[in-house]
Amino acid sequence: MSDVVLDIQSLTKTVEKNKSIVEDVSFQVKKGEILGLLGPNGAGKTTTIRMIVGLIKKSAGTVWIHGHDMDEHGKSCNEQIGAIVENPAFYDYMTGWKNLQQHARMASQPVSSTRMEEIVQLVQLDDAIYDKVKKYSLGMKQRLGVAQALLHQPALLILDEPTNGLDPKGIRELRDYLRNLAEDGISTLVSSHLLSEMQLMCDRVVIMENGRLIDETVIGELNNAERAKPNAVAFHIDSKQKKQAKTVAGTLADVEILDGEHDDTLLLHVRAEQIPAVNKQFVESGIDVYAIEHKKTSLEEKFLSLTAEDETMQTREVQ
Ligand SMILES: Nc1ncnc2c1ncn2[C@@H]1O[C@H](COP(=O)(O)OP(=O)(O)OP(=O)(O)O)[C@@H](O)[C@H]1O
Ligand SMILES: [Mg+2]
Repeated sequence: MSDVVLDIQSLTKTVEKNKSIVEDVSFQVKKGEILGLLGPNGAGKTTTIRMIVGLIKKSAGTVWIHGHDMDEHGKSCNEQIGAIVENPAFYDYMTGWKNLQQHARMASQPVSSTRMEEIVQLVQLDDAIYDKVKKYSLGMKQRLGVAQALLHQPALLILDEPTNGLDPKGIRELRDYLRNLAEDGISTLVSSHLLSEMQLMCDRVVIMENGRLIDETVIGELNNAERAKPNAVAFHIDSKQKKQAKTVAGTLADVEILDGEHDDTLLLHVRAEQIPAVNKQFVESGIDVYAIEHKKTSLEEKFLSLTAEDETMQTREVQ
């Protein structure tokens, strides 16, 4: 069997007056891969996902699951997908476990209690699974939703903006369990408008803007490129030492001073791998460094430059 789990080709959604809100979108998700669908608000992410899971009709294009055309094999294809698109609905007055049981009854295959226990563990709800859902935090509800989506052992999990409303701890946990799923061979398609998050969570991202795919990036390559390529890095120092810090930075090879920042930061263009050496130089020269901050990641720079180009084009069209 091919290792492509989801294959979408030229997916298009046209609404009234022949306006395309998603146009000619094609990408694949491989076995065990976490693919990010990244784009600003209104880019067409939810529309794309809703077409894939059959919540709305596509105007054109094809969706294959494991090489089977979804139009012809809808039922068997859907059985291989677990998705949270809108907020998952729960019975608030029932426990998490009862909710899962209720959901399991609707699955096409029987779901064993062992399977349910495994999933509860995976989404780290063990401590709260016998509490009523009305006591759950947003993050816990979101995890219960993922547990529901995983009950029937899908090959592909689809999550639309799953980190919305989660705190940093919740986001990190989500990242961890998606990674665990990937190691078990389960693929994930996850949408977000948060670049830094996608960079940490995904193996690859496709970038969407105005209904179209505008770029595709492999995160591993990007992270390597990031280490090799200079980035804007802010060194937070005492404002009284700013002048001295500038002099020290000026003596370092391959370090460009990008100033115009606040008095208590010195902004430098350096490669990530140079940061320890630059910091050491500051410390040895008696300059206290309070924090070191990456101003922009490569993905952010790329994303912003891609979308900025588009905006210029639009402005030109309007004028
Ligand atoms: N049924 C519809 N009729 C007309 N326009 C629509 C319809 N559904 C969505 N749109 C428009 O299509 C565009 C894409 O919407 P979509 O919800 O897919 O974006 P998104 O990338 O998910 O955005 P967000 O980050 O805000 O969730 C938006 O401009 C939206 O207003
Ligand atoms: Mg959306």
